[in-house]
Amino acid sequence: MNGDPVNWWHGAVGYEVYVRSFADSDGDGIGDLRGIRDRLPYLAGLGVDLVWVTPFYPSPQADHGYDVSDYLGVEPTYGSVDDATALIERAHELGLRVVFDLVPNHSSSQHPWFLDALIGRDAEHRDFYVWRDPAPDGGPPNNWVSNFGGPAWTLDERSGQYYMHLFLPEQPDLNWANDRVRTAFADIIDTWFARGVDGIRIDVAHALVKDEQFRDNPLLVEVAASSAPGDRFKAFDHVHDQDQEGVLDIYREWNRIAAKHDAMLLGEVYLLQTERLRRYVADGDGLHLAFAFATLHTTWDVDEIRTTLGGLVEAGGDDFAWPLGSHDDPRAATRFGGGEVGARRARAYLTLLCGLPGVPFLYQGDELGLDDGDLADDSAQDPIAVRNPGAAGRDPVRTPMLWEAVEGFGFTTGTPWLPFGANRRPEQAAAAQQGVPGSPLERTRDLLRARRELPALRKGAGSQWLADTGPVIALRRHPEDTSAADVVTALHVADGTGATGPASFRLPAPGRLVYASDDGVEVDGTTLRLPPDTAVFVELTS
Ligand code: NOJ
Repeated sequence: MNGDPVNWWHGAVGYEVYVRSFADSDGDGIGDLRGIRDRLPYLAGLGVDLVWVTPFYPSPQADHGYDVSDYLGVEPTYGSVDDATALIERAHELGLRVVFDLVPNHSSSQHPWFLDALIGRDAEHRDFYVWRDPAPDGGPPNNWVSNFGGPAWTLDERSGQYYMHLFLPEQPDLNWANDRVRTAFADIIDTWFARGVDGIRIDVAHALVKDEQFRDNPLLVEVAASSAPGDRFKAFDHVHDQDQEGVLDIYREWNRIAAKHDAMLLGEVYLLQTERLRRYVADGDGLHLAFAFATLHTTWDVDEIRTTLGGLVEAGGDDFAWPLGSHDDPRAATRFGGGEVGARRARAYLTLLCGLPGVPFLYQGDELGLDDGDLADDSAQDPIAVRNPGAAGRDPVRTPMLWEAVEGFGFTTGTPWLPFGANRRPEQAAAAQQGVPGSPLERTRDLLRARRELPALRKGAGSQWLADTGPVIALRRHPEDTSAADVVTALHVADGTGATGPASFRLPAPGRLVYASDDGVEVDGTTLRLPPDTAVFVELTS
């Protein structure tokens, strides 16, 4: 937005590192902080600006680190606090920013606060968690369900009360109506910012505050008790267990703490309705950025992509982060058809995301053109899959990184905690793609370089969608610096129309092709010819 102060995250490109699967420095088969530090030059060379590292705190690993038992420590498998600060320092030397993952909605059931709370109703930390008496029939206090299957309540036999958990029973929800919880977390984030971290990604940022009366959520559709946890969760309208009015007050306080350190707050706000998402970033005093997860739900359909992204950009695109993938969702290449076709579409889609205002995010391995790892059922590690027979878990997106074309793929010298996947091939490894023109890795590097060098894409001063219909989606961005050129990002979505040839698109002015996600693009004056499933940046020359 014109005239706004420029914060360091404006115009940045983000990259998600899933700690367990990124790089193992000590041969135990599990990724760690030293492994990440050693690979930071690769990320700097790729051209990302901001690295989000998933939780590495002490944890029983019931949900692979999203069950934290000490918010200020480091799980020994992953390293030490010194390793965390060394990672930050090395990143800063390389010009990278580091964002850590904060998990404030719930702790581990092994956190000292919860162990104390279990002692009884008068325990010092009892009110750090959400306790309710049973319903008159002795069952759970209301109809809320866990994201990971079953009710959101577990009975504590000793006290006769239920405690609440929107995820596993081993992840009891913290009670954000308690000021002592707020004070504890204000100290935790202040400490990590003082240790040098540049920002935090806030897990489940939309759900910290719950309805004061714990009312039932309305049921939208009946689903069988045996259906997958995700479907059971979606069967309810979550008006009482998430997105409550007061949640913004927490982020207003954190915003003031972050300001002291020039740090950034990035929310995992999993709300697909644009207006509800917008609220978290709207006034500039809450979150700085919120993930717009609708990007992960579009199919390869031109109208769907146009409508979804169009609405989000209009609602305030500068303040949204655009994930191409994550450790929770199928990879873009898989969502868009798998194999070569899926990888080509994922690359084109990433180009469009890089053309939007706001912050695009790659998930580790996206730059290698990876689709989901092909895993045998008996290798399941994700609690969603382990505890809900037949449910698809998140393991296929969490398979270890492919660094070198050798045994262990340069990820580990030991046995990886999760197999690489039967579909992985040596030529997909980063080292095998390095310097090979046209490889997914080199195309991604070219894309990020082009984005960095185009002022209109780094910090624009407004944008317009150019086509309401047809197979091409196109956005024109104006630079803040008026001596720089406008840039058009265009994507040809060859979907159900069965198009096999190029689409012709009329540019608003003659242009110069700066980047293409694949070969075969032509720009002739104001005519752009785009092969199917290809996207470009075109700089307008007049
Ligand atoms: C979102 C995280 O991304 C996911 O991996 C985790 O299981 C849940 N939040 C619960 O913390």
